[in-house]
Amino acid sequence: MERDLRKLNAKGLSRKEILRKLKELLDKERLNHSLGVAELAVKLAERYGYDPAKAELAGLVHDCAKCMSPAMLMKKIRDYGIELDEVEREYPPLWHAPVSAHLARREFGVEDEEILRAIRLHTTGDAEMTLLDKIIYVADYADPTRDYPESEEIREMALKDLDLAWLHTAKRKLIYVIKKEKVLIHPRTVATHNSAVKAVMGNQTMKGGKRSG
Ligand SMILES: [Fe+2]
Ligand SMILES: [Fe+2]
Repeated sequence: MERDLRKLNAKGLSRKEILRKLKELLDKERLNHSLGVAELAVKLAERYGYDPAKAELAGLVHDCAKCMSPAMLMKKIRDYGIELDEVEREYPPLWHAPVSAHLARREFGVEDEEILRAIRLHTTGDAEMTLLDKIIYVADYADPTRDYPESEEIREMALKDLDLAWLHTAKRKLIYVIKKEKVLIHPRTVATHNSAVKAVMGNQTMKGGKRSG
């Protein structure tokens, strides 16, 4: 079933029109990834009681600035007045998430703050994460077009226990940056991991498990 995304953006863009705009911004691989994230985000939204249309839109546009060069991203950061913290300034792979959130608003007319926030936080996560933040964070890592060996495992886990998949994603991301040479680790990457540990431990002590929210 095709979900109606027109009401979720101020430009009234249909899914088809959103895809057309994405094709102008992204290469084929990144477009396929975005479609994969959207598809998995819809499944997770349906499973955990979130609006699937909002999850789909967030998944589709979460990486809309990903194919820009660091120079272009920095130009957008200056033009839009996006504030980067000290660690973000040092590490260009973190630039596309805040720029994607701004482009989502400007180019795709997305005004929903939950969607914009999930896009902005999709790389690092944050100490406090909403259900949609978690859905996009996990779906981004575990989308079926990713060829990480653990992506399938996390995908299956996410449908059973979102917090556990959130923790595994956070842990993998932390290991990934630790393995890099001379790269600062963003405090939000650590905070996300610790929040996920607390959520999973909390779920384990509460019999039957707590619904993620
Ligand atoms: Fe991304
Ligand atoms: Fe992504």
